[in-house]
Amino acid sequence: MKTSRITELLNIEYPIIQGGMAWISDANLAAAVSEAGGLGIISGVGSTEEVRAEIKKTKLLTKKPFGINIMLMRDNIDEIAKLVCDEQIAVVTTGAGSPGKYIEDWKKHNVKVIPVVPSVAIAKRMEKFGADAVIVEGMEAGGHIGQLTTMSLIPQVVDAVDIPVIAAGGIGDGRGIAASLMLGACGVQMGTRFLVSEECKVHENYKERVLNAKDIDTEVTGTSTSHPVRVLRNKLTREYIKLEKSNADPREIEALGKGALRKAVIDGDINNGSVMAGQIAGLVNKKQSCKEIINELMDELDLVLGRVCNE
Ligand SMILES: Cc1cc2nc3c(=O)[nH]c(=O)nc-3n(C[C@H](O)[C@H](O)[C@H](O)COP(=O)(O)O)c2cc1C
Repeated sequence: MKTSRITELLNIEYPIIQGGMAWISDANLAAAVSEAGGLGIISGVGSTEEVRAEIKKTKLLTKKPFGINIMLMRDNIDEIAKLVCDEQIAVVTTGAGSPGKYIEDWKKHNVKVIPVVPSVAIAKRMEKFGADAVIVEGMEAGGHIGQLTTMSLIPQVVDAVDIPVIAAGGIGDGRGIAASLMLGACGVQMGTRFLVSEECKVHENYKERVLNAKDIDTEVTGTSTSHPVRVLRNKLTREYIKLEKSNADPREIEALGKGALRKAVIDGDINNGSVMAGQIAGLVNKKQSCKEIINELMDELDLVLGRVCNE
């Protein structure tokens, strides 16, 4: 179980990455995770000036490595890709498209490139493009998802590529990290657990909804428009699914989701907003600082691995 492959690559203490989360993972959250020995990731979604300001703020808060998550479909992606080089960001994670055309430039600037992938074929393609590692995300995860589960996807990708594999989706405690390592991953990315951290900016209503969620409380919307998203069930998801089942115009369906994440994150409207969270929300039931979360995860991991090795 080689966690050193990822801690050495990213120059971090523990094999734990806080996943990029649009409108959520800002300088405060990312810096707190990096300061605690993991890798914090700010979101690269926003205007170029907003993202530049967030990078500068993160650099003031921590001297440790941090990353930026880039959604490749955004209009200002060329500018953000250049910003990554100008600001010499340690790590880029990418989603929603292929980072192929930017990889050479990023690597010239010593940026580690880690795409988030939902399948073996895309993982292999990213390795060919020169990615340093891949984050393999199962459909248990919160937010936009693929079709396969973490349990079945990780070992298949591990067998198919030579670069380090980081597991994401459905990991909420040290047992989840241990299981990921057993499947051949060398680290994990977590989103839902960090949503309720003290340093996370999401509205208290959002945090309470995640903390009170049960195992069966998530729903996948957007399957009919090929943009599946895992969220906690509420008035919005009921309306969304009703429209999807009635074969409504995809534009009407998409319009319902517009601005919905902001509504939940900033305004705390957990009835009409999009409360993105993963299936593991049912296990996440206490608010802690990022340092407490990471220390607890590593203690649990040691305990589980010790038990496995001694039995
Ligand atoms: C609220 C929320 C927003 C997210 N936004 C993004 C995003 O903007 N970009 C991205 O690559 N992944 C995003 N994700 C996925 C996370 O980075 C991470 O991979 C995922 O949460 C891991 O699964 P977990 O939720 O089971 O921990 C988001 C997840 C959540 C819960």
